[in-house]
Amino acid sequence: MSGKYRVAIAGATGAVGVEFLRLIEERKFPVSELRLLASARSAGKTLRFAGKDIKIEELAETSFRDIDIAFFSAGGSISKKFGPIAAQAGALVIDNSSAFRMDPAVPLVIPEINPEACAEHRGIIANPNCSTIIAIVPLWPIHRRNPIRRLIASTYQAASGAGAAAMEELAESTRAYLENRPYQNTVLPHPYAFNLFSHNSKMDPETGYNEEEIKMVKETQKIFGDPNIRISATCVRVPVLRAHSEALTIECEKPITPAEVREILATARGVKLVDDIANNYYPMPKDASGQGDVLVGRIRQDTSDPSGKSIAMFVAGDQLLKGAALNGIQIAEVVVQRGLLAGARR
Ligand code: A2P
Repeated sequence: MSGKYRVAIAGATGAVGVEFLRLIEERKFPVSELRLLASARSAGKTLRFAGKDIKIEELAETSFRDIDIAFFSAGGSISKKFGPIAAQAGALVIDNSSAFRMDPAVPLVIPEINPEACAEHRGIIANPNCSTIIAIVPLWPIHRRNPIRRLIASTYQAASGAGAAAMEELAESTRAYLENRPYQNTVLPHPYAFNLFSHNSKMDPETGYNEEEIKMVKETQKIFGDPNIRISATCVRVPVLRAHSEALTIECEKPITPAEVREILATARGVKLVDDIANNYYPMPKDASGQGDVLVGRIRQDTSDPSGKSIAMFVAGDQLLKGAALNGIQIAEVVVQRGLLAGARR
């Protein structure tokens, strides 16, 4: 191999797919050939990459011949069907769906936390859930200093997490609302303009938790390598276009102060402190949109825990970037820098 890679993007026209394309160019990921794959609806259209128009092809079983790395972001069922086919054809699949995340044979990776897990891949590496990534990039360096025993998370999730069509529904329904026109939602289950609702993933009637909330619990435990960390989440969709915000409360093993947390996060990778008490300026989705770092602020003692072991904070991160495409590209960068393309397959 010449140090340049043949790359495919499955779901290239989607909200995450176009970010993969943009980031490959922006970060100068070494590409010798780029194959853009989507549904039959998009076949024949073009997307621009490095000053050239590249024709989109319909995703097929033969799409992954002679491909080194395949980024998947076309939904769970497409990943389930075509991911193993791509891996079988010799590509390393970096999958943004939930299809393989909890498979014990598939590494679930956030490069700031567990890059070493990439070495264990057998053809597929999973990109974690967006809310999980945005919460735990700042929590990891705290966890390493003073283990987190419990996390309570409440999310304020943007439309982008449900794809390009949901972003369009938010924009269109808001326009209709302001113009006093009726609007029938078709993508999300409830009216979105000037409203918010419990996350649209499937609810488990027995526990009362939806799939998004369960992902935050299970994926955090897997990535941290700590099945004993206790987590409860409430995931809510809010009328924001593209960055997720989250209120996080952690309980650590030993007492911890806001000053210690600020000191830890000041040098943490992938994190930017936005904690301007004097000006009441804290993480906002408008500021997080378009940047790779997770913004962290409102760092304060949780006064409901008199032991001094608990901290509350507020974070915001771009769901399409660090929550999806950027994390995926960073995984690919770890793989090529460490020579792990073949992984544990051979
Ligand atoms: P297309 O644009 O042709 O429908 P999003 O996450 O923004 O909803 O995007 C989903 C992505 O997955 C799009 O690129 C979409 O392509 C692609 N996709 C959806 N269904 C299929 C399918 N059956 N085969 C291949 N790609 C698909």
